[in-house]
Amino acid sequence: MAVTNVVGLQWGDEAKGKITDILSDQHDCVVRYNGGANAGHTVVWGDRKFALSLLPTGVLKPQVTSVIGNGVVVYPPRFIEEVTKLRDGGLDVGTNLLVSDKAHVILPYHMEEERLLEADSESQIGTTGRGIGPCYQDKVSRRFAIRVGDLLDAEHLRERLRVIVPYKNKLLAALGDAKSFDAESLVEEYLGYAEFLKPHITDTTRLLHDRIAAGKSILFEAAQGSLLDVDHGTFPYVTSSSSLPSGIWPGSGISARRLTRIIGVAKAYTSRVGRGPFPTELDNDLGERIRKVGREYGTVTGRPRRCGWFDAVAVKYTATLADVDEITLMLLDVLSGLDEVNIATSYLLDGKRIDHFPSDAATLARCMPVYDTMPGWSEDLTTARTPGDLPAAARAYVDRIAAVIGKPISIVSVGPDRDQTIHLKS
Ligand code: GDP
Ligand code: IMO
Ligand code: MG
Repeated sequence: MAVTNVVGLQWGDEAKGKITDILSDQHDCVVRYNGGANAGHTVVWGDRKFALSLLPTGVLKPQVTSVIGNGVVVYPPRFIEEVTKLRDGGLDVGTNLLVSDKAHVILPYHMEEERLLEADSESQIGTTGRGIGPCYQDKVSRRFAIRVGDLLDAEHLRERLRVIVPYKNKLLAALGDAKSFDAESLVEEYLGYAEFLKPHITDTTRLLHDRIAAGKSILFEAAQGSLLDVDHGTFPYVTSSSSLPSGIWPGSGISARRLTRIIGVAKAYTSRVGRGPFPTELDNDLGERIRKVGREYGTVTGRPRRCGWFDAVAVKYTATLADVDEITLMLLDVLSGLDEVNIATSYLLDGKRIDHFPSDAATLARCMPVYDTMPGWSEDLTTARTPGDLPAAARAYVDRIAAVIGKPISIVSVGPDRDQTIHLKS
């Protein structure tokens, strides 16, 4: 019985959506366990393209049970919008999509708080503006949180929001020129959403325990990347949840001991959205070229992604943290046509060579990458389908990355479509 995790090894957008989609055919359930609509996972089937933000990628397959686990923060209008769009596109989305009654709910005051905090250039993180951080903050501080299950009891929801909203209004007014919210209108608005969500809400922890007991296979789809993990990422320039496999246990209720396979997803180069240190960043024409060829613009916010060389110091760190069995190397086609390609294999920190990833962002910001420079390749890779189709220089680049990280590369991806995939081992 397969219990698999797909986890990003960089700063997000590694193409987890593509790998999850490919693997979802071999699993009964696909589970999101962290984050919310800050994620943007893209799936391409021929001329059809899907961008999933809050919903698990499994939702594209009617035979798969898709689960939004308790560790996710749910913005109901986004849930409704995504489901409606998929249904309008002819997909059968019914009770094969389930939401944990223990997942936390994002309300508009969360987004307003984030907007006001992000307006301060001193403390700005460069978030997606989806209310993710303020909602997780309410979860951890407990007093003012609303969970998905709370939406099912109108009187209870009214009582809760009558207490919470005046407090939030005071807080927001103290932060700046803020919108003020009315408890009664929010109750009515969210009860309307609850009608839509109701058939999908359940105790997903129990459901997953039952599925595992019945021998079903489960695929856990991480959002974000390991370098955005709230504990182990480049803090404070991270997200507010655990995007590593360690988030699975609290974020779904399934023991990490059940995992049979952990697949780390990495781009053949690096990208990052938002603020924070990025040692291999190419803030020049080459970075711009990679951005153009790789279409590196945020799925959620449309912001241009920062681009740079592959950072093997960072990926070795995250591959170890995530304890991956294998790595899938994505978007290799984007590097075609360069005379040389670089892989950062160590850093210079204040003139001294280090080969570990520093634990704080300020130190990382002082690190200069030390590169292994390799010959590039001119061939277009997008039609390559077997290992033998890869030019020798591209294959050498892949092999060098695997050797530096010390993990096998099982898949090389050469285009967004599910067919543009090369399996290096079965
Ligand atoms: P995720 O958040 O990790 O699921 O990744 P995103 O969907 O945000 O970003 C990955 C982007 O790269 C998407 O636009 C994919 O369609 C695209 N993509 C995936 N694999 C490849 C590939 O091998 N080559 C190219 N050129 N694009 C790819
Ligand atoms: P997927 O799942 C890339 C980044 C934001 C910001 C930081 C905090 O598509 O890989 P947040 O809104 O979470 O408080 O923002 O994290 N970020 C992502 N970057 N891909 C993502 O998701 C991201 N989710 C959050 O840009 O720097
Ligand atoms: Mg993304």
